[in-house]
Amino acid sequence: MTMTETKSRLVEEIQQWKEKRNAIILAHNYEIPEVQDIADVLGDSLMLARAAAETTADVIVFCGVHFMAETAAILNPEKTVLLPDLEAGCSLADSITADQLRQWKAEHPGAVVVAYVNTTAEVKALSDYCCTSSNAVDIVNSIPADQEILFLPDMFLGSFVQKETGRDNMQIWMGECHVHAGIQPGHVDEVMAQHPDADLLVHPECGCSTSSMYQLSEGMLPKEKTHILSTGNMLKHSKNADASEFVIATEVGIIHQMQKQNPDKRFIAANEQAICPFMKMITLEKVLDALKENQHVITVDKETADQAKLAIERMIAIG
Ligand code: 13P
Ligand code: SF4
Repeated sequence: MTMTETKSRLVEEIQQWKEKRNAIILAHNYEIPEVQDIADVLGDSLMLARAAAETTADVIVFCGVHFMAETAAILNPEKTVLLPDLEAGCSLADSITADQLRQWKAEHPGAVVVAYVNTTAEVKALSDYCCTSSNAVDIVNSIPADQEILFLPDMFLGSFVQKETGRDNMQIWMGECHVHAGIQPGHVDEVMAQHPDADLLVHPECGCSTSSMYQLSEGMLPKEKTHILSTGNMLKHSKNADASEFVIATEVGIIHQMQKQNPDKRFIAANEQAICPFMKMITLEKVLDALKENQHVITVDKETADQAKLAIERMIAIG
């Protein structure tokens, strides 16, 4: 059997099992192309959390990383949430533990905790609000201006939110995603020099986001062609913008979708090495096994889930 025949057979089998189990496949924009192509919903973290909250399916196959499946499980304790590979973790979520957060809160009594969705369920349970890159600014703006905020765990997203909201009473945890942190100002400068007419789309978790914000404020990058966006908003921008070339500063998996939606436009990675090993762990074979073998079921204990749910529901409601 050729590779193409094997792939079509796998896709067909996945469809059959999906129907049999009344399942939905949710996939993040960083997944491998074949997995993106079989998703019922493909999106950024906020869109996927909303899809998980709204689905009527019995089974949710989460093609993403562990914290995403956990969020879906918290929102749907009565449904089966499957993560096709248990090793699909997240270096950013690992950058703060529940104990570290307890300690930080003790040092700032009365502060409101805003946690990026890239956190464990235990960390969410200790937080007041969750946010994603697409609504972090709106969430922080919804909190009274005189209220101290502890923002975690991503320092680059934190600096972006601080700049956008103008808040000086926001403490930021010094965590980072190793993939986004690896997209450095030098990468962007080099690629932009080769494509001076391109729109520049930067994810706020990137190591280059602080320098892009500085260059924007100093007029070194044009305002109308430089945008700091979540992956979902990057896709919207690339569809709607007039530009024919785009430099993309985020995990490279998203370029598959951009190219698919805009065959006549050109998308160039700011750093071709920005590949998330966790997102790439999910394959068609593992999706099929997940449906057939009911693996790996993600659950969160009731007490943690009940506490975390409040923060997640606030995230879903805003922005
Ligand atoms: P968004 O898709 O919400 O922008 O998040 C990016 C990310 O790093 C997910 O792990
Ligand atoms: Fe986590 Fe970074 Fe991978 Fe996103 S790209 S899942 S933040 S390690």
